[in-house]
Amino acid sequence: MTRKLFVTTALPYANGPLHIGHIMEYIQADIWVRFQRMLGNEVHFVCADDAHGAPIMLKAEAEGITPQALVARIAAERPQYLRGFHISFDHWYSTDSPENVALSQNVYTRLKKADLIYVKPVEQFYDPLKGMFLADRYIKGECPNCHAKDQYADACEVCSIVNSPAALIEPYSTLSGAKPVLKTSDHFFFRLSAPECVEFLSAWLETPGRLQPQVVNKAREWLTGKGDDALGDWDISRDEPYFGIPIPDAPGKYFYVWLDAPIGYLAALQNYFASGKARANGELRTFEAFLSAPDTEQIHFIGKDIIYFHTLFWPAMLKFAGAPYKIPNHVYVHGFLTVLGEKMSKSRGTGIDPLRYLDVGMNAEWLRYYIAAKLNSNVEDVDFNPGDFIARVNSDLIGKYVNIASRAANFITKYFGGELQYSGDQDMLVREARSLAALARENYEARELGKAMRDVMSIADRINQEFDARQPWILAKDPANSAELQDVCSRALHGFKLLTVLLAPVLPQVAERVAKELFGLDRPFQWSDADVLPTRVNPYHHLMTRVDPKQLDALFEVDKESANVNADKPQGAKTRSASGPTSGRDAPVTVGALLERSKFAQGAGANPTAPVPPAGADAASSTATISIDEFKKIDLRIARIVNAEHVEGADKLLKLTLDLGTETRTVFAGIKSVYDPATLKDRLTVVVANLAPRKMKFGVSQGMVLAASGATPGLFLLSPDAGATPGMKIS
Ligand code: MSP
Ligand code: ZN
Repeated sequence: MTRKLFVTTALPYANGPLHIGHIMEYIQADIWVRFQRMLGNEVHFVCADDAHGAPIMLKAEAEGITPQALVARIAAERPQYLRGFHISFDHWYSTDSPENVALSQNVYTRLKKADLIYVKPVEQFYDPLKGMFLADRYIKGECPNCHAKDQYADACEVCSIVNSPAALIEPYSTLSGAKPVLKTSDHFFFRLSAPECVEFLSAWLETPGRLQPQVVNKAREWLTGKGDDALGDWDISRDEPYFGIPIPDAPGKYFYVWLDAPIGYLAALQNYFASGKARANGELRTFEAFLSAPDTEQIHFIGKDIIYFHTLFWPAMLKFAGAPYKIPNHVYVHGFLTVLGEKMSKSRGTGIDPLRYLDVGMNAEWLRYYIAAKLNSNVEDVDFNPGDFIARVNSDLIGKYVNIASRAANFITKYFGGELQYSGDQDMLVREARSLAALARENYEARELGKAMRDVMSIADRINQEFDARQPWILAKDPANSAELQDVCSRALHGFKLLTVLLAPVLPQVAERVAKELFGLDRPFQWSDADVLPTRVNPYHHLMTRVDPKQLDALFEVDKESANVNADKPQGAKTRSASGPTSGRDAPVTVGALLERSKFAQGAGANPTAPVPPAGADAASSTATISIDEFKKIDLRIARIVNAEHVEGADKLLKLTLDLGTETRTVFAGIKSVYDPATLKDRLTVVVANLAPRKMKFGVSQGMVLAASGATPGLFLLSPDAGATPGMKIS
């Protein structure tokens, strides 16, 4: 049975570019959608710009353009992000569209008929100069508690107290500077607290398997709140001037943006179907028929900050508007993407600009894999950590997965003209592949992407181990072993194909190349390809490069530069005083610095002055492989410690004078806690001789001595066997 799926991600506000948090949401949904397509399910995956609301209206005004022009400009930027990260929306539309006007007005009219709309006067601050009601975020004044000037009501930046706008001393409108006055106006309300609404919502929420348990808990709390926390009705109108959809028969009144925004999901689907591009089995899909079909599933991927709208307002609106509107089958909620444990913020230089990511030459599939590896089905934040990123991509994707193909295919091409031949039980191979694919399928379906990636990498480990254990490079030396060599490599390539199918939702481009170039298929992989044994391969072509830590430096460096010119809050909000891990804003940010920062944040107690390997290297897990050429880049030498002394003011460092045979070097090493300088004099050890000199507080360190450390306390300097002399090269 093929499923009929209507899948959306949240509609991004059309007042700015997409950030890496948006991309993370799209990647998660895109992986799930691609997986469903590979199963042969019918999927319609749409998104749109969320165009309406006061911020967009005001931004356009400030730029001297119409809101429509602003929205069009932003919309024109979207494709490069979506293409760049291989996000496969079938359609991208806008909430500022004729379909959305008609649908929103229709939903409203039906709710009104169902007696779920009423009008009530509301008193609110008003900017008499601008002629506009003011949301709290447009009012500032003096904090009544600490008397700091220019504070928003929601939280004083100085004393953190939460005020009401009415409590601010000498309040002013940030739009015109005028003193806001209280003014009354009629507002339209959706009767969310009506018993039939509450009853419907609680049944909807509690339907097993519909929502994640954490989401049900949150929504239930809102639904069943008492006293001050009781569920309120929803104010769905705004007075002109407003960029939005007019409320029928109510001159000067517009729908609040959050009413028409989710309806924009439907407008996007409708516009997509009307375009004639959506077909299933050659049949044209039509909006009403598709929506009202009982087996159509409507699924929304969203972030944790907009649960309220999607689990209360949205299903209630749809339910009481009636057919053909469909109640969402699932709302899948993800946490936020943080960068080094910090909330992303451009002004603090902790964001990642998605286009910059692509510009510095980073591969979109690295990020897709990294995000997949870190996601589960819970509402947990996902942290982007450069060291972790390098390690996962280089050791998993390249070291474990890609390597299989390059190693095995070369033998098959060279000795067997591309023919694969298995000795032994082929059924067993097929059965095994089938059960591994079934397991991965369950994980993908449940959005347990991290688990799926871990399983895939452990399959890759096994394939590599089997390959290594049978030593094909030795078999290749004797033609008598030809059959065995062919079997070893055929099995590895079958394994590689299986892995590629299982990774295809995450790595669509690599998977497509593998299908075409390596296995000669004339179509992309389907899920059912997982257990079909390949019979031949074409010569291997390079599939993916490793991450170069310098790329991460470039990514963060640039972001830092733009941080100083491009602050988050245009109204001149004060940036927090430099303290904590974000201090030192002027210092260049390197991956090394970021890694150290993150170690402190995690409380790992890393000692920044201890002999640490060069940036990036310590991040690679011990399973990462490097080529001999990479290893040869490190100039390791025997050195004699001719002098060792304490450094005044340093509580961890010893100053070492090293004889390298032809030269003398000064190296600061963080070994004071374990070595008495006197005992070090004259002994031999190992030094990294070509490490870039590092300026430290106490002088320049011209290299690094090597020491071992582990889970138990202690730090142990290396020494060579007897006979080694200063300057000898270690290889
Ligand atoms: N326009 C509304 C959504 C309307 S849906 C009918 C909105 N827009 S948004 O641009 O602020 O956010 C769009 C999506 O991005 C939301 O799902 C939000 O949770 C998600 N994210 C925003 N910041 C994020 C991170 N830092 N990390 C992950 N997702 C984030 O809300
Ligand atoms: Zn205050």
